[in-house]
Amino acid sequence: MSVGVADKPRTRHALPAARWPTREAAARSRWFSPIGLRRLVAFERTWVPAMVPWRATEDGFVTPEVLDWYGRFAAGQPGVLVVEATGIRDIPSGPLLRIGDDRFIPGLRRLVDVVRERSDGRTRLFIQIIDFLTVRRRPEPEAFFGRYLEVTDALRVQLALWLDDKRWRAKPETQVREFLATADRATLETVLTDRELEALDYGYRERVWDTHLPHIRELPRVLPGLFADAARRAQTAGFDGVELHYAHAYTMASFLSRLNTRADGYGGALEHRVRLPLEVLAAVRRSVGDGYVVGIRYLGDEVIEGGSRVEDAVWFGARFAAAGADYLSVSKGGRFEDAKQPKIGEAVYPYTGESGWECMPTVLSDARGPFGRNVPLAAAIRRAVREAGHATPVVTSGGISTFEQAEGILERGEADCVAAARQTLADPDWFRKVRLGYGGLVRRCEFTNYCEGLDQRHKQVTCKLWDRKLDAGDSTVRLASDGKRRLTPPSWEPPAER
Ligand SMILES: Cc1cc2nc3c(=O)[nH]c(=O)nc-3n(C[C@H](O)[C@H](O)[C@H](O)COP(=O)(O)O)c2cc1C
Ligand code: SF4
Repeated sequence: MSVGVADKPRTRHALPAARWPTREAAARSRWFSPIGLRRLVAFERTWVPAMVPWRATEDGFVTPEVLDWYGRFAAGQPGVLVVEATGIRDIPSGPLLRIGDDRFIPGLRRLVDVVRERSDGRTRLFIQIIDFLTVRRRPEPEAFFGRYLEVTDALRVQLALWLDDKRWRAKPETQVREFLATADRATLETVLTDRELEALDYGYRERVWDTHLPHIRELPRVLPGLFADAARRAQTAGFDGVELHYAHAYTMASFLSRLNTRADGYGGALEHRVRLPLEVLAAVRRSVGDGYVVGIRYLGDEVIEGGSRVEDAVWFGARFAAAGADYLSVSKGGRFEDAKQPKIGEAVYPYTGESGWECMPTVLSDARGPFGRNVPLAAAIRRAVREAGHATPVVTSGGISTFEQAEGILERGEADCVAAARQTLADPDWFRKVRLGYGGLVRRCEFTNYCEGLDQRHKQVTCKLWDRKLDAGDSTVRLASDGKRRLTPPSWEPPAER
């Protein structure tokens, strides 16, 4: 069964026409009106969701490049800016931000200060906190058969059956390894388990339902404390709130997934799948206290075979709201299960399959097109949350790049805040331009995912619309490590205020 767009004919869609409001019309609009988030007021319902730019140090610290990235978004003065997925564990994770120890607090505090200053205090700043499991690179077959594959009794039995020769049950390990290293595909597909074949073809990847592994079995014991400590650090660093990352390919989304078969009360039925996410939320709340914003980002639809659908998401939404989440930011897809096979030496990337396309849809789309494609998910969740008697704000994102789209969504009551990731990367000033009546100057995202390609290769993320606009004489521009791209777009000030 296919649940997405891959098998449908795709055509190239034109960007939605944009009629921009005057300054006065923008001031009267819903999108530029304030919203309460617990005790905090966001001055606008404009929102920048988390985007990883691959600019931290290899050991997870804030760099000048990270400060430039968030400072540049802050200059556009969105109502809310969410800092990228930031790791809650104190383990190496490449150039992703980390918050798994107090030593990360000073750098994060600088980030907070930069955003306050550059936004003139108009932007509320949250940080997305994430846990993820081990994903290894796709191995060279020699390394896989020579070292990584565990030669088990079960494997020997399979070999004996397939080769019709009982002696394989007692063959020394080295002989088993040598045989498999040169075996044909049919043999490998017969004697290896699905997970072993996956480790060979895609790289080893853990699941939350691998409860035979002690550290996976222990996740429900460990994660509430890790999330709670990370949230406390975020609060100490001065963020206005934390966003629990329960979306896409990562640990907490996998607990919520219909694929989660854990038999220890944390998998299977809906109420068991939501148990750990609720326990994490409760631990975070205890750690940061009553007044602090704790939001949740999660999936309205996993878009994978056998995965959670909107019916699950609606049910979870009402539970999260009842448990005191301060907003629900609805995303879609972005799972490992349908990701493309990586090259040898590379890791599988959860945005290469159909579910990945749904997460960051491009102009090459089925008839529905990529624009505002995820709004019905947010609308369904919002309806369920309201019916359950909660006023929890719901945030939508996905292919939104005009004022009219955003205003229409709010007018129809489909969401309470409207977020834009790629459009804001294309033009970080766009909210401010629209608010001040300069909508005609917005640099419009083309939704062809050059930026996402950089993210996939773990390269510093930039936008093709501005990253080559280099002025040879300007030595203040920071370049990407390839030396060819500027890391932030040129600045903009409204003509009247220059
Ligand atoms: C470069 C890049 C990095 C992203 N990183 C994150 C992330 O750290 N956490 C997250 O929840 N979503 C992440 N996303 C997804 C976006 O927040 C957003 O949901 C998605 O791009 C769809 O919105 P858009 O059409 O406005 O771009 C990322 C997207 C891009 C393009
Ligand atoms: S690189 Fe392309 S998809 Fe990404 S923000 Fe720029 S125009 Fe949009």
